[in-house]
Amino acid sequence: MSTSREEVLGYFKEKADRYDLVDQQWYWVLSDSLLWDALVHHVFPKLPDDFVMLDAGGGTGRWTDRVLSAFPKAQAVIFDISPDMTKHAQEKARRNHYEERLTIAHGDLEQVQHHLKASTFDLIISFHNVMGFVNPEQVMPQLASLSKPGGLVVLFVPNRYHAAFFNIFQANIERAEDAINHWLGKFVDDMPSLNLYSPSSLRNALQSCGLHCEWLSGFPSLVYPGYEETRIEGSSIHNQELLRDPVMFRRIFDLEKSVATEPDAAARGNNLFVVAAKVVDGGRS
Ligand SMILES: C[S@@+](CC[C@H](N)C(=O)[O-])C[C@H]1O[C@@H](n2cnc3c(N)ncnc32)[C@H](O)[C@@H]1O
Repeated sequence: MSTSREEVLGYFKEKADRYDLVDQQWYWVLSDSLLWDALVHHVFPKLPDDFVMLDAGGGTGRWTDRVLSAFPKAQAVIFDISPDMTKHAQEKARRNHYEERLTIAHGDLEQVQHHLKASTFDLIISFHNVMGFVNPEQVMPQLASLSKPGGLVVLFVPNRYHAAFFNIFQANIERAEDAINHWLGKFVDDMPSLNLYSPSSLRNALQSCGLHCEWLSGFPSLVYPGYEETRIEGSSIHNQELLRDPVMFRRIFDLEKSVATEPDAAARGNNLFVVAAKVVDGGRS
């Protein structure tokens, strides 16, 4: 089941102008640093210099901005349902001088195939709950078809087990039951319900459309967001005091990084992270 599009549009319309404040929350600084480190070591080295990327549900362009700023020959398409979010991506492109390398397209990811050409992308990314807002059975085959043979699909999706833990921790047992019994989750009242994933449901969904999982991990797996970090502003005292100390930040970053390659740790993740490759004819890429 996917959430109604009106609800999603209304939710992000209200959040769009403040969305990038997440960059000031220590927990998300840690999570984003781990994600960028994973991309730098396990994804970008496998791509040509002039790679073409799709940022599915790219929102305010936080990730496209990093990528196009770091790789001057790369090009990107942000595909998102919310013009309120993407207007900030357009501003970043203007500010950081890569407007001619970025295309912004609007629409519903469940019909993305009607908007973009098959076998176009070397890299498809979709980060931070986007895959929770859509039906994966509809969207993943379309992402597979938009990927070039051998191209990479990298996703960061909400973890069913963490949604159950978080809601029990908040004494919201009904929501924990929804996570376990119906694979649906929320972290705060005003957000639309998300479709949740487990490591094996994610792996199976990708494999069934010809995407081979090269790395599946939990991100972060040892540090969890508090209630404050599920909103755009504010930091829980615990995470803030721990992570703003650069030495502690580095030590926790190193611990997270060392378990990120252990498959057993994936189910502990706040989110699940996967790098998958489109299988080429005759076998794996
Ligand atoms: C939590 S934001 C994440 C933005 C970005 N990926 C990031 O990591 O900063 C989720 C984004 O998904 C987009 N979205 C939600 N449902 C969508 C759909 N059905 N089709 C396209 N975009 C969608 C929203 O408009 C929003 O920009």
